[in-house]
Amino acid sequence: MSITEKSTIEARPKIDKGLDDIYVKESSICLVDGREGRLLYRGWDIRDLAQHSSFEETIYILIHGRLPAKEELAEAKRAFGESRAIDPEVVKLLRCMPEDAPPIDVLRTAVSFLSNFDKERDDPTRAANMRKAQRLIGKMPTLVAAHHRIRQGKRVLVPDPKLGIAEDFLRMLTGKRPDPLSAKVMDVALILHADHSMNASAFAATVAASTLADLYSTIVAAIATLKGPLHGGANEAALKTMLTIGKPENAESYVLNTLQNHGKIFGFGHRVYKTWDPRALILREYAKQLSELRGEEDLFHVAEIVQDTVVRELSAKHIYPNVDFYSGLTYHLLGIPLDLFTPIFAVSRVAGWTAHVIEYWEDNRLVRPLDYYVGPTHNVYVPVERRA
Ligand code: ACO
Repeated sequence: MSITEKSTIEARPKIDKGLDDIYVKESSICLVDGREGRLLYRGWDIRDLAQHSSFEETIYILIHGRLPAKEELAEAKRAFGESRAIDPEVVKLLRCMPEDAPPIDVLRTAVSFLSNFDKERDDPTRAANMRKAQRLIGKMPTLVAAHHRIRQGKRVLVPDPKLGIAEDFLRMLTGKRPDPLSAKVMDVALILHADHSMNASAFAATVAASTLADLYSTIVAAIATLKGPLHGGANEAALKTMLTIGKPENAESYVLNTLQNHGKIFGFGHRVYKTWDPRALILREYAKQLSELRGEEDLFHVAEIVQDTVVRELSAKHIYPNVDFYSGLTYHLLGIPLDLFTPIFAVSRVAGWTAHVIEYWEDNRLVRPLDYYVGPTHNVYVPVERRA
């Protein structure tokens, strides 16, 4: 009996459309504790990592599953510095992009193109995948910065391997070395977005990985999935809300009006966190410091009033700020344009994606779910000349 015949005969199965309650693998990479508001990478609390670690060390922790020794960390930093350079052919590709091409689309295309320059692309061994992950993670900030410079009609800057990823990214983007606070904030933002367990883009990467496609293909799938506004885009919407409100005195009434009209305030609520998202709390502190440095205290004040009003009105429904509420504001205060927010998310999240893919390959199984067929089963084919 074919699957089609079977599905039309059997009782309708339970369909879990969004896979909300389905576990697809065991993992020791990331714990999202929605009740306590904790996020752990390989058992380490992101609050400790944000305070004491660096993005490079966080990548090491995610991919290797342990803290690096001093020399291992120095070597990882050196390797990331070295792998930041991109082939001139890749820069040529970036120059071919239409002026108005969304940077996230350009990044997706460029990562796909990059695979052709990696001699180990189809080497499926764990060691080769670790090296590819390091090269790819290294190059993503350069791709985003180079494309941004090109679309602004500016000179593409070559990476400075002596700098950390976050600092060099800001330098390649803006053309000047960032002040220490900005470099630190960028580093923390990259740490905080580096993984979040089996979310949509990590799952997309896992599905591609399960076919034994190469590492680059899995990351292209992940970037394509991150692009959607239900995943990577909420921080843009949150920032737009703050900019629309404009003045602190308008903030409370804006929130109350929106809620009265059953609207949603972007940057609040989360499928897993039913309390404060720990990433939002960390970024809030840095956004405050940046707003003082930039003389944009009013915008931060708007954010605070929106936050206080939403929490006052909706905490009974367990609605609190999520990471997007403060990440958009943080990037804005770093002088980063809106359409780079999602590419920057990818620059960070590629660490988690590669960790998940490499973990999945240790015990691979092709992902092949079922759909429940509800269409016709006895259609009669009519040749085209006899159709009305
Ligand atoms: N503003 C106003 N009300 C909200 C909000 C919000 N941001 N979020 C949830 N609510 C309300 C809902 O209207 C609902 O009210 P009701 O019970 O009276 O109908 C109640 O709180 C429960 O909300 P759900 O949508 O059922 O919560 P769920 O867990 O399914 O959704 C989600 C979570 C989709 C993130 C939702 O909170 C939302 O749309 N938030 C705004 C968009 C956003 O910030 N997305 C980023 C998420 S974080 C991330 O992806 C990194």
